[in-house]
Amino acid sequence: KKDDVISIDGVDYKTDGWTNVPQSILDLTGRKLHLRKDHPIGILSNLIKNKFDKKEYTFYNNFKPVVTTFENFDVLDFPQDHVGRSKSDTYYINKDNLLRTHTSAHEYECFKETKTPGYFISADVYRRDEIDRTHYPAFHQMEGARIWKKGDIEQIKKDLKSIPPVDLVVEDVVRPFDAVDNPKQAHMTDEETDLVGQHLRRTCEVIVDTVFNEAKKAGKLAGSTDPFLNEPLKVRWVEAYFPWTAPSWEIEVWWKGEWLECLGCGVVRKVVLDNSGVDNSIGWAFGIGLDRIAMLLFGVPDIRLFWSLDERFSKQFKENTITNFVPYSKYPGTQRDISFWLPKSVENSAPFHSNDFFEIAREFGGDLIENVSIVDEFTHPKTGKSSKCYRINYQSMDKTLTNEQVNEINEAIRKALTERFEVELR
Ligand code: PHE
Repeated sequence: KKDDVISIDGVDYKTDGWTNVPQSILDLTGRKLHLRKDHPIGILSNLIKNKFDKKEYTFYNNFKPVVTTFENFDVLDFPQDHVGRSKSDTYYINKDNLLRTHTSAHEYECFKETKTPGYFISADVYRRDEIDRTHYPAFHQMEGARIWKKGDIEQIKKDLKSIPPVDLVVEDVVRPFDAVDNPKQAHMTDEETDLVGQHLRRTCEVIVDTVFNEAKKAGKLAGSTDPFLNEPLKVRWVEAYFPWTAPSWEIEVWWKGEWLECLGCGVVRKVVLDNSGVDNSIGWAFGIGLDRIAMLLFGVPDIRLFWSLDERFSKQFKENTITNFVPYSKYPGTQRDISFWLPKSVENSAPFHSNDFFEIAREFGGDLIENVSIVDEFTHPKTGKSSKCYRINYQSMDKTLTNEQVNEINEAIRKALTERFEVELR
């Protein structure tokens, strides 16, 4: 493999100043956990899929993870200065190609190609992020969308009637105090906006009902006496903002004493349909994150376990069934602190973002790192230099780490820090 070329799924990409994707992340792109029938991620996506009619919705689960910035952002009308576009948040292959940060990156081709009125997508998505129990740079989403011919009110009403009833207590839409504009679109009548919005929300409620009520049933079957399992499932709708939908909402589920944010959605903006060559149509889209939900419903305490090859994990689950993860003993862990000075001048040196530290840690430590936290941060009053201290917890899912192994990784991280940034180790 030549240094200036990255090969993914048989395609060669020339690297450039935007390239920031390490090999350890590229290695995850072939795992396809969402396609494994006996893996919590695959089980959840199948439970949802089985609820919908294949004549109404086409199901895609094989889209390649590399998309263009056009598909991931431009088509969806992301503002040029949206943080999602930055190198500190996104894995770029090069200036024009990246690892999709959400399944919405496929709306363009799906709206263009799909022959049924709607479609679903399940896929792995990638974001540069912090390192802890609930964050991993790769995770999974399921996306759905549905369109009608503009003016076809009768069809929307008919489709609305055919949505199966759900066993939920649905609270009214909540408008958060910091709500941004969430207007209806000018090209749609009030009735169209109302009906499309209703069809969207009822459909999302079916998904939430399927997944969470199934988990409650499973809990009771397993003999849990938690009184929560006998209460009706409660959800609420909250107004939200996405660049490519208006109006937009999020659904939150009341789960064991907390409102859990689990799905974002909205009425697709005309600009996206226009960009995708879909004329004279109206519709909706939603996206749901699977990993966080799978952790809660299967009782998985650490998101890295989803990626573990240990059979004590991978052999625990069965097709179409939610069961509680049975923990096995954790291997012992150990921690190391890394502290350093950042140069005073910010003008002519590359700015340092915590995600840069996390990234280097992941590059050398991979899944052997349980979490990284910043434990100290201050600016020296005289020199004006600032100091940062990060704490790395090393702990393997699959083996006991020796001190030598940990030291070697930790040294590699320290070395990379000084080579790539103007930092002075303390
Ligand atoms: N892609 C959005 C996310 O990752 C979710 C979403 C999908 C919102 C479709 C609206 C419409 O958070």
